[in-house]
Amino acid sequence: MRKVVLDTDPGIDDALAIALLLNSSEVEVLAITTVAGNTTADKTTRNALRILEVLKRRDVPVARGSEKPLVRELVTGEVYHGSDGLGDTGMFPEPTQRPVGKDASELIVDLVLGEPPHSVTLVAIGPLTNVAKAVLRCPEIAKRLREVVIMGGCYGLTPYAYGNATPVSEFNFYVDPEAAHIVLNSGARIKLFGLDVTHNPRTAITTEKLSEIERYNTFFAKYIAKVAKPRVNMYMHFFLHDPLTVASVVDDRIVQKSITGRVYIETHGELTRGQSIVERRPWIKVEPNAEIVVEVDEERFMSLFMDRVVRVEL
Ligand code: RIB
Ligand code: CA
Repeated sequence: MRKVVLDTDPGIDDALAIALLLNSSEVEVLAITTVAGNTTADKTTRNALRILEVLKRRDVPVARGSEKPLVRELVTGEVYHGSDGLGDTGMFPEPTQRPVGKDASELIVDLVLGEPPHSVTLVAIGPLTNVAKAVLRCPEIAKRLREVVIMGGCYGLTPYAYGNATPVSEFNFYVDPEAAHIVLNSGARIKLFGLDVTHNPRTAITTEKLSEIERYNTFFAKYIAKVAKPRVNMYMHFFLHDPLTVASVVDDRIVQKSITGRVYIETHGELTRGQSIVERRPWIKVEPNAEIVVEVDEERFMSLFMDRVVRVEL
């Protein structure tokens, strides 16, 4: 069973990712840490607790993290995720549990040091502010972690590699480019799920997939129907960025192909703010710092998503 710490900014797709992870017996979620991104830290923390309330998993500790990026002002994704961060559906109850007293970065460090070496996987599906603070607080966790699996970046490696925060930048890296730079240079074993694979229409909810989901009467089937329909109508797809990323930890056969390379983060640009750049010149000899996923088994992912999120009676 894989031990996982999830750092997240719920977030509609984060909510679906949390459900997928907690409904999967292949992983043990040691804790959830929250970060500002899709909405403020107050709301992402409240949302994590609300999601656990629905999942009846008040046993999972939640630690509140960074309210803003390392050096920049916060830019949220509320225009897409709604003012409450979960699509303003009114479907999630008020939480009955409270966050733990520790800061997210402190809890991440404590959990990694408290478990045997190379036994904890840190999965980050929001801006990397908490993860950067954790490796700054305790650099040795980078090598102690089994792996850091990140939803972030856009690498130009597939036809789907267009940005969502700018024409070339992905939102999580756009919000806190400095944090992404620190994490990518921490020495950790990093696996990156960029828009190259999460913008793939075959891993997204489409009108056709929506019709299939609407046939179910579960909480998350109804939630997806409510939040995805307007977004599919507006954007043609509702992308499952975070569920695809966490699914790879549940079933590693979902990753079909990846490359290793050196990834740099643009921390000075305007249109290029947070852009993730892969060194691909064959004559340039530079140490790789990440594995970048370029192909996934779409059917295997969709089947897992339907099984662990849509069809689960809570
Ligand atoms: O770019 C997609 C990422 O930004 C996802 O993690 C989504 O939740 C938003 O945070
Ligand atoms: Ca997210």
